[in-house]
Amino acid sequence: MSEISDRKKDHIQFTIDEGTQYKQRSGFENYTFIHNALPEVNIAEVSTEAVLLGKRFSFPVFISSMTGGYSEAGQVNAIIAEFCEHKNLPFGVGSQRAMLEDEMLTDTFSIVRKKAPSAFICSNIGGAQLIGNLMEDKIKRLIDSIEANAVIVHLNPLQELMQPEGDRNFKGILSGIENLANSVSIPIIAKETGAGISKHVAKKLLNAGVSVIDVAGAGGTSWAKVENQRDSNLDPHFDFDEWGNSTTDCLINLTNLQWERKFEVISSGGIRSAFDIAKSFCLGADFAACAQPIIKAISINGLDGIDELVSKWEHDLKMILTLLGCTTLKELNSSHIKLNS
Ligand SMILES: Cc1cc2nc3c(=O)[nH]c(=O)nc-3n(C[C@H](O)[C@H](O)[C@H](O)COP(=O)(O)O)c2cc1C
Repeated sequence: MSEISDRKKDHIQFTIDEGTQYKQRSGFENYTFIHNALPEVNIAEVSTEAVLLGKRFSFPVFISSMTGGYSEAGQVNAIIAEFCEHKNLPFGVGSQRAMLEDEMLTDTFSIVRKKAPSAFICSNIGGAQLIGNLMEDKIKRLIDSIEANAVIVHLNPLQELMQPEGDRNFKGILSGIENLANSVSIPIIAKETGAGISKHVAKKLLNAGVSVIDVAGAGGTSWAKVENQRDSNLDPHFDFDEWGNSTTDCLINLTNLQWERKFEVISSGGIRSAFDIAKSFCLGADFAACAQPIIKAISINGLDGIDELVSKWEHDLKMILTLLGCTTLKELNSSHIKLNS
């Protein structure tokens, strides 16, 4: 197995362990909903539908990019794809770098389109892989392999620096994204992997042609912790375990920017319940996304595991909307929450 395949396999094993989650919280815990004793809502009429990139989904959760690139990853991707096809949810495959380096690994990604012919599926490539002259044929190959509806570019300098074998050069990523935007006809989503995206960075990404920003803030999976655990025999850097901008900080800063610029914001990094999803919408997010709880649910109970998790969130989200006097997610705003004193 290649170095990348080994790493991707380790990532699933280590992220399932709650010890690799941030101690620093996502920030959702600092807010409380304002209860409405007179909601005037029939829960049977409450809708959890939400729109992203012009497409309507049944539930506002994007299954974040996670895996691909080794045989078991193909099975995980198949489960996610089957579930998303059935439920009408969007999802992203994990980094497709491995298939660019070894064509034999393509099937572990392309399985998703076979299992989900009509789902909204995103390609995934690291920002560092876009440095220099854009290899248009390779980008086309990774998009075509899953007939992608959008391309996700992940920005993960903390994670790379924590990996002994990770990338060290982050110069030229922004112009790489600009070149990508000029060469593909599908939208680009930029995301972090758990350390968050600031307003300053968001502006640069939007100027480069990005349509959606997935904040992937701190509060959920800590890649510093993952990499420290993965390489326990090497020199660990525990001081970076809590590094990153919290998800709610990112959301507040980016949704403020929506007054100036037209783009969509995905709330992710520590989304662990329907409460976090609803609070994200109150803070202005257009959609939410989640990784660790999904891979954990699949590892425990496969397709049924992911179905049980999302069904519970769906039930809870309908209750929350009812208790706030709303029938749709679009009605949620800052008046429905208060900052704890
Ligand atoms: C097992 C695992 C593998 C991941 N691999 C990728 C990846 O290949 N590309 C990517 O953009 N993000 C990757 N991520 C990061 C997630 O997409 C997400 O941004 C991050 O885990 C924060 O969300 P969470 O707190 O819900 O886990 C991975 C996450 C997990 C748990």
